[in-house]
Amino acid sequence: MPTVLAIETSCDETAVAIVKKRKVLSSIVSSQIETHRLYGGVVPEVASRQHLETIGAVIEAALAEAAISWEAIEGIGVTCTPGLVGALMVGLSAAKTLAIVHNKPLLGVHHLEGHIYASYLAEPDLEPPFLCLLVSGGHTSLIHVRGCGDYEIVGQTRDDAAGEAFDKVARLLDLGYPGGPVIDRVARDGDATAFKLPEGRVKLTDGTGFHPYDSSFSGLKTAVRRLVDGLRADQGLAANETDSLPVADIAASFQEAVARALTKRALRCATDLGLKTIALGGGVAANSRLRSCLQAAAQGTDIQVLFPPMRFCTDNAAMIGCAASEHLARGQVSPLTLGVRSRLPLSQVRSLYEPQS
Ligand code: KG4
Ligand code: ZN
Repeated sequence: MPTVLAIETSCDETAVAIVKKRKVLSSIVSSQIETHRLYGGVVPEVASRQHLETIGAVIEAALAEAAISWEAIEGIGVTCTPGLVGALMVGLSAAKTLAIVHNKPLLGVHHLEGHIYASYLAEPDLEPPFLCLLVSGGHTSLIHVRGCGDYEIVGQTRDDAAGEAFDKVARLLDLGYPGGPVIDRVARDGDATAFKLPEGRVKLTDGTGFHPYDSSFSGLKTAVRRLVDGLRADQGLAANETDSLPVADIAASFQEAVARALTKRALRCATDLGLKTIALGGGVAANSRLRSCLQAAAQGTDIQVLFPPMRFCTDNAAMIGCAASEHLARGQVSPLTLGVRSRLPLSQVRSLYEPQS
């Protein structure tokens, strides 16, 4: 199975890795979080500029850590969709340059396919079919993984992604950015039953009930805002005052609603599709309550839940390299005319490749 150097710059991490099939030879991630924290979220132009400044050094570091020569590298993988267009361009330009200079095939990779492949890095013996619960800052998806390049999104969020909801609720409670880790921490001292919040169910258009796999976290976020406004009004607090609010209880109740919603949908989906493995991916997979909820729900069933280590759940290039290596092994390579796209349905992953002549 081919050895690949891979680049990931779709959002706020500049990452480069060298991967031999499902084995990581090196993985370097340079996070921009401290820069974006100043603005309370990712600023696209700042992200592109920082990728540009960092990418060269990160490539060097990945090559040095793997102690590998260019002769041993058989392909260049790069995230080309979805993501911030300017940020993706930096990675793709660097990848094309390396591909041309070193005469290696180029492999564009769909970022979400990369998140799916993180599970293979964690569990090299894992084989499809399985269900991937991908919960990140930009996506909340239940993906039926049938094989390499063969994916069906069976459930998703109708509005805010799970991570986005964590970030917005944290801002509401004045807890800072990114919101997920801080809510997770603050919630430990809170009572998850203090406030009853909706689990973000989506009504079916024919009025016969709720969608079994889709979620809506925008309604949950609005419910938290109403709760906070109500508590402030009761206590005669100013509009942005959080000091005397029961922040830990609100954080715990919100986290509970998200964890329960995702657990129910994932278990139901895996059961309905007859899938025996649920593999987690994305930054929200770090959430302690989501992990314990899923583990508890799967206990006593024949479904196993796979939690890849955090370094493979959050954005990294090793997962991109793993996906690229599998495509290269199947003779699928991308043309040098490949461009970046802010979006591309996961079902169209194969459009990134052309058969090798
Ligand atoms: O996958 P990721 O690193 O980046 C992408 O969005 O692709 O995910 C980042 C998201 C952020 O919204 C962050 O708040 C959330 O993951 N997150 C968490 C936790 N750690 C990170 N959410 C809940 N609990 C956590 N412990
Ligand atoms: Zn991601």
